Amino acid sequence: MAGDFFGWLSLALPTGVGGCWCVDRLESDRTDLMDQYVMPGCEPSPGDFAEAALKARGDHRLEAYIRGGKDPEETHFDELDWLIGFSELWLYALRNARLALSTAATTTATAPSASPLSSLRRAERQLLAAHGREERQRRAFQDARITFDQHAAELRAMAEVNATREVLASKHIPLPAEAQLNRSVRLSNGLDMPRLGLGTTMLNGEKGKEAILEAFRLGYRLVDTAQSYGNEAELGSAWRSSGLPRHQLFLVTKLSEDEGCRRKRAKALVRQQLKLMQTNYIDQYMLHGPCPGMYGAWKDLEELYDEGVVRSLGVSNFNLEELKRFNSHVRVKPHVVQNKFSIYHRGWAPVQTQDVAQKLLSWGVVLMGYCNLDAYPHVLQPLEDVHVKKIAQKHHRTVAQVLLRHALQHGTVVIPKSERAERLRENADIFSFQLSAEEMRLLDALPLLAYHFKKPKYIEDVFRWNSKEEL
Ligand SMILES: NC(=O)c1ccc[n+]([C@@H]2O[C@H](COP(=O)([O-])OP(=O)(O)OC[C@H]3O[C@@H](n4cnc5c(N)ncnc54)[C@H](OP(=O)(O)O)[C@@H]3O)[C@@H](O)[C@H]2O)c1
Repeated sequence: MAGDFFGWLSLALPTGVGGCWCVDRLESDRTDLMDQYVMPGCEPSPGDFAEAALKARGDHRLEAYIRGGKDPEETHFDELDWLIGFSELWLYALRNARLALSTAATTTATAPSASPLSSLRRAERQLLAAHGREERQRRAFQDARITFDQHAAELRAMAEVNATREVLASKHIPLPAEAQLNRSVRLSNGLDMPRLGLGTTMLNGEKGKEAILEAFRLGYRLVDTAQSYGNEAELGSAWRSSGLPRHQLFLVTKLSEDEGCRRKRAKALVRQQLKLMQTNYIDQYMLHGPCPGMYGAWKDLEELYDEGVVRSLGVSNFNLEELKRFNSHVRVKPHVVQNKFSIYHRGWAPVQTQDVAQKLLSWGVVLMGYCNLDAYPHVLQPLEDVHVKKIAQKHHRTVAQVLLRHALQHGTVVIPKSERAERLRENADIFSFQLSAEEMRLLDALPLLAYHFKKPKYIEDVFRWNSKEEL
């Protein structure tokens, strides 16, 4: 809708680095739902980029990693995940720094000094070349640290100015009633599934049961669990204590173990899971990931689907190629795919060449995103993102709410997990505000600041990355 992001930004700029960068862009002549209720746009200032750069550079795990050469929190199963994860964190620091310096130069009419930009760019290239090779990557990190720190004072000054600038709140524009009510999505077999649910990793024992029960009290109706979470019994017990009629709930569970992933075993496993959950049907049943005997197991699931014991089928952690292959072998195609979905990683694939959410939508498959808030299995933390924080301030919302809302506006179902009542409430309050098209464009472009590979075509270059390269 709007033209070129930075071209527009420079026109809109009122008072240089410290000024307010928010512009009222309500376009009341639009007729479709998304655009009719557009909020005013608000672009990152050089200070925002500087803050984001410093924040990433200041991540305590980075320093520990450079010194120790290990994942300091040992939270990652896969070595490549954390090697790439730390590299993404550094790229995010370097690229935000470059944008801070170059945007300030562009907008203050001061001639940009080529050297800081090219030294940051060099550090980035070195990182990219070291990709996934541990020793080389660590050396690249050490060099990048020296380069970055040469600009740290300038970045801090920008960030300080930023801290004093006023963040204009968006005008509150009420959503139309139909948008507020749009809390469920219809699967391709006609079953309605809530668009918000409770994730339950680590919700075990009495604490787990209490959290699930609290979520029911607050109005959550979808709960996502799995054989491997070990809390299907807690879910069953929370449901019984809630007194809710079964038809009001939407229970999701998965086949997790390779052992159960074969013909005849899968059916027996589902029966055990039903027992644990104290119910006689499951609303959505998934394969937790591709597994050796999955076509045999799926035949079992198709039979259970025919009998109405599982009301819809799904797969998790399949990329688009895997899903296509899978679809060509099965009679009942998955209605739902559950994959990682965050502002930095929108889908499940090492190289995201396609817009997974968009593609699945076009195939009529609903995407249920996990880890919208949590960094897993990567390192960059969405909840700490400065750009998201600015948007959240503008809407008087929390960062978590903006992250979840971003996912919802991509048509996904969200399943945030929390064991705290106040967060459960906060995470559910995402249907009464909307991110503007400009805000979505910015959030959608954030992977470019961390990405390791060639820019995927589906991500718009709102930072005009290519022209910045020339600086
Ligand atoms: N299919 C798969 O392979 C797969 C993989 C991962 C996850 N999942 C599913 O997806 C669900 C969600 O993923 P997840 O649990 O890993 O991550 P998540 O829901 O994105 O984030 C959960 C983390 O964020 C914190 N949190 C929750 N709400 C918050 C808020 N408003 N403000 C600040 N922090 C907040 C939680 O801490 P507190 O609990 O202390 O609030 C917890 O540490 C899982 O629970 C699981 O059901 C599936």
